[in-house]
Formats: sequence, C-alpha cells, structure tokens
Amino acid sequence: MAELYDSPKYYEIAFAWRDIKAEVDLFEKAIEEYGAIPVKNVLEICSGNSPHMVELVRRGYRYTGLDLSRAMLDYSIAKAKAEAVRADFICADMVDFELKKKYEFAYIMLGSFFATSTREVFSHFESVARVLKKGGLYLLDWCVQFEPPWETKGSSNWEMEQEGIRVHTTVTWEPIKLARQTFKETIVLDVNDKGREIKVTGTNVHRAIYPQEFRRMIDYSDDFEFVGWWNNWDLDKPLDFAYKISRPIILIRRI
Ligand SMILES: C[S@@+](CC[C@H](N)C(=O)[O-])C[C@H]1O[C@@H](n2cnc3c(N)ncnc32)[C@H](O)[C@@H]1O
Repeated sequence: MAELYDSPKYYEIAFAWRDIKAEVDLFEKAIEEYGAIPVKNVLEICSGNSPHMVELVRRGYRYTGLDLSRAMLDYSIAKAKAEAVRADFICADMVDFELKKKYEFAYIMLGSFFATSTREVFSHFESVARVLKKGGLYLLDWCVQFEPPWETKGSSNWEMEQEGIRVHTTVTWEPIKLARQTFKETIVLDVNDKGREIKVTGTNVHRAIYPQEFRRMIDYSDDFEFVGWWNNWDLDKPLDFAYKISRPIILIRRI
C-alpha cells in the first residue's frame, strides 16, 4: 500500500475538483479589501503539490512552498520547471519553522493544520508571525472545526479522472481523545492507473480548533488580529449568519 503524501500525482488528481483561478481571484480580493500592505511574496504552508503556484506566479507573485514531504516538494519543483515558473521550496515542519525571508501573504489549504496539541497550535501561529510582515494576511482554509468532523454523516467520498487515471477518494474521521480535542483523519485513494489497481492511504492526527477558542486565541494574540470568516470561499457570505457551514475560510492579519 502506498502512502498518500508519497504519491503526489494521485493526490493531485484526487483534489483537482477545486477552481484554482477562482481561488486566486479570492486571494487578490482579500488582499485588496483587507490587506494593509502590497503583496509580492506569497508563502503556502503545507504546500504539497502547490496547486496555486503557477497561477500566482503568472499573476506576478513570488511563490514559496513549505512542506515536510520530500516527494511532494520534488513534485512541485518538477512542475515549476515544466511550467517555466520561478518558485522557492522549503522542507520544514509547519508546527515550528523559521525562514530567512519575510512574506506579505500566507495561506494554508484544505485543513492542512497538522498540530496535534495545544502547544503545537500556538507554536504554529508563532512561526507564521515570525515570517509574515506586519499588515500581511494569513488565510486558513477549513482549519477550524465548526462541526466535529467525526459527526459528519458517513464518510466523504468522490471520484476524479485525469489522463486515464481514475481516483476514488474516501475521507473518514474518528475522535481520539475528546478532552484533548484530537481526532484521526484517514484518506484512502483507490486508484485505477490505466488498468493497474493501487491503494494509497494517509492518516493524520489533528488537534481540533473550535471556532470560539480560535477567536479568543486571536483576540488575545499580540501578533494577529481577526479579520473575518466566510462560508464556502465567498467573501459575501460571513459565517456568523450561516446555519450550515462548508469549506470555511478565515483571514487574520499580522499586527
Ligand atoms: C492536504 S495536503 C495539501 C496540499 C496542497 N496545499 C493543496 O492545497 O492541495 C497536506 C500537505 O501537508 C504536508 N504536511 C503534513 N504534515 C506536515 C507538517 N507537519 N509540516 C509541513 N507539511 C506537512 C503533506 O506532506 C502534504 O503535502
């Protein structure tokens, strides 16, 4: 059985349902409306296959991807070369990192918040504070648990196909220690690669962050201020008015 983050191509196909151009449009709208400084240097945390890299570079930004997986970083380096875009890559742990360069915008996608304890949650935000310039925005996609994921009915699953490779993805969640707010997420890709059947599995442990504790953490932070949160990647849909939440995004600003 293959490991998820050692299988960048299959991961990329599995999560190719996103509208990348529309997401980069939202980055730009957010920067225009809520950023306090002009943006040139963009940092993607847990960058994986760097889905937004090419679009960002073509729009004039300088992209850096940070990830812990060598296979994912090598895949993105090869993609940058193939697309003739200039980008930087760093192998580091999102929980605790220091970088020489500073950025005006940072983002983290698809709940890639791999802190497993309260201490690691704080350590992550301290790391981001070290590398984000004052006035810069940090966008978090699906990183706060507005609903306990393990209460999601059944599993989440879907199928994608590209270049003759069919990938059926199943995501399941189960609680580990309720009082510690830890839960396990398992992602299984059932791949049919031009007739060859392959199973790819990834298991991650997360420390859930609940919405009002997130607000309190940011409100009491010396490094960030809360800007807003919205439903389903739509800056016209603030979450405070939502009864059903799907793919929420959050913006905080470095102060
Ligand atoms: C769900 S993927 C997200 C990839 C990409 N950002 C996207 O939008 O599709 C999560 C990525 O986080 C990386 N990762 C997992 N734990 C990490 C850690 N502690 N520090 C940095 N990267 C990590 C994995 O290698 C993987 O590439």
